[in-house]
Amino acid sequence: MRLPEAPTKAISLGARGFRHGRSKQWFQGPPGGRQRYQRPSTMKTRVASALLCACITAFKPLSAQAPRPRSAVTHIVVDADQGRDTISRHIYGQFAEHLGRGIYDGVWTREGSGAWHLRDDVIAALRRIQVPNVRWPGGCFADYYHWRDGIGPAARRPRMVNTIWGNVVEDNSFGTDEYIELVVRIGAEPFVVGNVGTGSPREMAEWWEYINHPGGSSIADERNANGHAAPYNVRRIGVGNESWGCGGAMRPEFYADQYRRFAEFLRPFNDSTRPFRIATGPNVDDYNWTDVVMREAGRMIDGLDLHYYTVVGPWAHKGSATQFSEREWFLAAKGALRMNELVTRHAAIMDKYDPRKRVALIVGEWGMWHDVEPGTNPGFLYQQNTLRDALVAAITLDIFNNHADRVRGANIAQMVNVLQSMILTRGPQMLLTPTYHVFDFYTVHHDALLLPITIENAGYYVLGADSIPAVSATVSRDQRGVVHVTMSNVDPTQPRTIVAELRGVSATSAAGRILTAPAINSYNSFEQPDVVHPTAFTGARVENGSLTVTLPPKSVIVLELR
Ligand code: AHR
Repeated sequence: MRLPEAPTKAISLGARGFRHGRSKQWFQGPPGGRQRYQRPSTMKTRVASALLCACITAFKPLSAQAPRPRSAVTHIVVDADQGRDTISRHIYGQFAEHLGRGIYDGVWTREGSGAWHLRDDVIAALRRIQVPNVRWPGGCFADYYHWRDGIGPAARRPRMVNTIWGNVVEDNSFGTDEYIELVVRIGAEPFVVGNVGTGSPREMAEWWEYINHPGGSSIADERNANGHAAPYNVRRIGVGNESWGCGGAMRPEFYADQYRRFAEFLRPFNDSTRPFRIATGPNVDDYNWTDVVMREAGRMIDGLDLHYYTVVGPWAHKGSATQFSEREWFLAAKGALRMNELVTRHAAIMDKYDPRKRVALIVGEWGMWHDVEPGTNPGFLYQQNTLRDALVAAITLDIFNNHADRVRGANIAQMVNVLQSMILTRGPQMLLTPTYHVFDFYTVHHDALLLPITIENAGYYVLGADSIPAVSATVSRDQRGVVHVTMSNVDPTQPRTIVAELRGVSATSAAGRILTAPAINSYNSFEQPDVVHPTAFTGARVENGSLTVTLPPKSVIVLELR
């Protein structure tokens, strides 16, 4: 572990870096991102509202508070009889871009037979976490991608240079039909992103026809000739990606018009193919983007795609995924908590134009973005994944769950071998990351009823002069009537006692699993793939209508109440 603290002045949380000149490689910063440096002073006051949704009652801006004791008991009230919103399983979506080893090696391999095929081991692992949808083919790649390059006999598919991700040659062996086979085998729904940046409304409409028309048209018959008689019935379609940056560097006014033009030609062929059209949403805190796009095109939008990454440090030195100090651990958690502010404020703007919340906020890209692993291609965004990533995932998923009324989809970036992955592969080997285990825990919330919680005496994790809420949670009731709790304690040294008053729950016991590890930077490697793994949790009991949990430091738990 690296001990010296990161220089606070240089730290920017969630900053998206800067736009690059044409000749620059994307990996010197995020593709097409705008300059977005977080002002630390504003962070201090805003981040405090991020814990446990908007339900914190005993809350003052952190900067106005005296230092808090570290070991106070956290009291939570669960109003199980007042659930209203369903937690969409689509919050647990994945993202697979033609980037680095995300597709090639990650899910599509020549290992074994020498011929391209899907990886059974990766698919089996993804099935276990019940992936609801997979966003594809990008990301930035989507606005370079021409779907026709990826259909028909593999040997005849054109080869292109993937100029945005490392200048590697893309042989298009993984295209639309292979992607659909992947999602079907995972048990997920497709979520395709169409090309607005270098494409046309005609190209996007014809792709829609290829994937969805039942047959009889030349394009649908082409799908049939490629071995797929039945339409794929795709509903989710992104109309461009990051159109404010790598997707075309557009102003929101221009994009809104483009959106309307492209979206107009995505028409249903029947009830199974009514499109769920997802517009490029804001870059982090670009509230003007949300305002303009909702005002000008909201009527035609089904989902608005917000992107926000948790970055510790400036883009040029984001820091190692595995070698970090406690301060960098703290800043990662603080960066993750910022999602609450972003979701709350974008949702409030959406409310202005869409008070009935018809339009979903889809957080189509989120997660931790570190420096790449030493010795790996900087264009491939390959990073390790520690217990810190797991805590960031738990905090973020709790925020999404607790905004279930508006956040009805999200896609962590990315599924395999890229950024904050579920799975890493090396040749025929595969390992599950700490983040995977969090997604596994949180399957209990898929399509469950969110049960409102109110937190009193929130415990705080204090580091130097700064502090953040230590405990994060979601409580839900599934379709069988079983209540589940997920909780995390981000404080790496102090345990927390949580006493939850269970109103409207008639449970007498609680049992579950815990994810923790010896160190804040513990991770699973190909040599030691099981350092961070779930174990049985015995620190919870139910007595007289109250759940008492002793949450160890740096841990995430899932509980079932019986
Ligand atoms: O996930 C990596 C990249 O980050 C995506 O391609 C892009 O949309 C975002 O900037």
